[in-house]
Amino acid sequence: MNYYIITGTSRGLGKAFVEALLKDEQNFVFGISREQTIHHSRYKHLSLDLSDSNVLKNLQLPIDLTANKLVLINNAGRLGDIKHVPNLDVEDVVTTYLLNNAAPVVLSSLFLSQTNHFKGERIIINISSGAAHRPIDGWSVYCSSKSGLDMFTKVVNEELKLSGNHENTRCFSIAPGVVDTNMQQEIRSAESENFSSLQTFKDFKNNDELVAPNEVAKKIITILTDWKTIQDAVFSVRDY
Ligand SMILES: NC(=O)c1ccc[n+]([C@@H]2O[C@H](COP(=O)([O-])OP(=O)(O)OC[C@H]3O[C@@H](n4cnc5c(N)ncnc54)[C@H](OP(=O)(O)O)[C@@H]3O)[C@@H](O)[C@H]2O)c1
Repeated sequence: MNYYIITGTSRGLGKAFVEALLKDEQNFVFGISREQTIHHSRYKHLSLDLSDSNVLKNLQLPIDLTANKLVLINNAGRLGDIKHVPNLDVEDVVTTYLLNNAAPVVLSSLFLSQTNHFKGERIIINISSGAAHRPIDGWSVYCSSKSGLDMFTKVVNEELKLSGNHENTRCFSIAPGVVDTNMQQEIRSAESENFSSLQTFKDFKNNDELVAPNEVAKKIITILTDWKTIQDAVFSVRDY
């Protein structure tokens, strides 16, 4: 049995991951998001707000150590307000960093500590963004939160090497490309004075350049079947 913990499973890419994984009877998924939209005999859900620091401080992961393989997918994320830096709202800034950075770090830490003696394969997948490497005006918090996630991923792998766990345990940060989800709708509803790339993102939709979440989920799952051969900790689905 393969045991997956996935955040942000109520819609978009996270939901697509769950739907793809549940097609295989060997897979069991534990999902976390504020809303529950999936009901299945091999799916369990925890309704949590991962941008609440008190939730993060008290979090315990229900991990089935009888599994052969354990996977954590830190997928939940938010864009936050699309505004230039002088106009940022403090509450929104804090919420975005908590969800996009603190939550994956806390979940990864719990995942690795609670499975310290596990002998099978352990994989952490952080869902990042091309925006981690490209400054986009209006997205300062989102871009910096995702580049922080990429660096966190690299440090985890350094520590895994030092502890002699790198053969069986790995952390990846994956940019999923431009995916047709609510997040893209939010981007298209931004105001042009806060975001000079607005028309580019409207054109992605108008020109059918957005990729369906189920296609991206399937591609990432396929790429990771051979995870031991992947050299880079940080990469984009577009590289494959
Ligand atoms: N769509 C794209 O083009 C694109 C591109 C690059 C990277 N990404 C990344 O891909 C990931 C998935 O995004 P998506 O496009 O699928 O976005 P989405 O459709 O907006 O879905 C976001 C998911 O995160 C969950 N979430 C949001 N706030 C949460 C909170 N406070 N606590 C717990 N869960 C929360 C949502 O569930 P609830 O609202 O039920 O809590 C939802 O399931 C994100 O990390 C995003 O940054 C997306």
